[in-house]
Amino acid sequence: VIEDLPPLSGTLEYPMGVAIDSRETTGPAAELLLRHFTQITGENHMKPEAWYDAERNFRVHPEAAALMDFAQQNDLDLYGHVLVWHSQTPAWFFQDEAGQPLAADEAGKQALRDRLRTHIFAVAESLSDTWGAFGSDTNPLTAFDVVNEVVSDSGEYADGLRRSEWYRILGEEFIDLAFRYADEAFNQVHAAEGAEHPVTLFINDYNTEQDGKQDRYAALVQRLLDRGVPIDGVGHQFHVSLAMPVSALAAALDRFEGLGLEQIVTEFDVTTGTPVTEALLIEQGYYFRDAFEVFRAHDLFSVTVWGLTDGRSWRSSSGAPLLFDDALQAKPAYYGAAGAELPD
Ligand code: G3I
Repeated sequence: VIEDLPPLSGTLEYPMGVAIDSRETTGPAAELLLRHFTQITGENHMKPEAWYDAERNFRVHPEAAALMDFAQQNDLDLYGHVLVWHSQTPAWFFQDEAGQPLAADEAGKQALRDRLRTHIFAVAESLSDTWGAFGSDTNPLTAFDVVNEVVSDSGEYADGLRRSEWYRILGEEFIDLAFRYADEAFNQVHAAEGAEHPVTLFINDYNTEQDGKQDRYAALVQRLLDRGVPIDGVGHQFHVSLAMPVSALAAALDRFEGLGLEQIVTEFDVTTGTPVTEALLIEQGYYFRDAFEVFRAHDLFSVTVWGLTDGRSWRSSSGAPLLFDDALQAKPAYYGAAGAELPD
């Protein structure tokens, strides 16, 4: 059955991505993945906490290593997710030696700057040690979410930024530093000889299709550009439901055009609501058709769906958000995304 479906990647001029863990690197799931996708993102195992064992020792998580190997062996691009986040980050990042919260004074700031730099360089060094320098034929990593979800959900702060531990201690500076360190580590120190800027550096956030959040996101991106921060691109997660007009996705992509930055759809999924009915799945097919028409009309770095099959989705309880069902069968969503014919 898998062989009957035209590859989704063949309908796009840029990579088609999917978020996975090593479960999708073997057997029929891998077969389906390799037919339709040309890029993978680790759904959980390149997040800050995943790089440390219980004794706080840095190491490449075996799941992350499995994804690097899988990408290398199958000629896929690997999209890194994520260097800096408020969530899934070890608590000790924000504590002193005695386990007390770092103060927002100069000593605390310097301690956190050092930790940030050490973390980012350790990620770059470990991935280039084993898989070769970035931009070489053997290393599949092409991009990284440098900072994720740093914009506030509320409009109450003048700078529009999330009040995280990163922010409490360093203020907005942590964002600039994260990009500067990432640029140095991935694109200078550990870049292959002759490779020109091999790892594209993204900011990433959700609800960027919604007005207030989008304004705060755009303002932040403009400030980063004004300060000469080495940001390469803007990511839109696009975790949406059928209630979100596709025109809002188009408007979000339009909004960030013309800044000289890449754009990317990083975590696309579309919940139907429950109970999931045949009619809703068909409606979802049309949604995917319209959304992918919008994506094709934009010059993107890639489009990624946040999971291979419905049952593996973090949003499965809100209704079947992905392209394939648990039996690895294509849903109307797949046919829509591929631009194939859909039933009325
Ligand atoms: O691995 C443990 C397992 O050992 C344990 O038995 C089980 C019990 O709950 O938990 C497992 O860990 C879970 C992990 O997913 C792996 O399945 C965590 O509890 C769970 O919190 C984690 O959820 C992930 C979530 O990020 C965490 O914030 C989702 O899989 C992942 O899809 C989701 O991804 C995020 C992006 O990183 C950023 N954008 C939003 C997106 C959705 O929240």
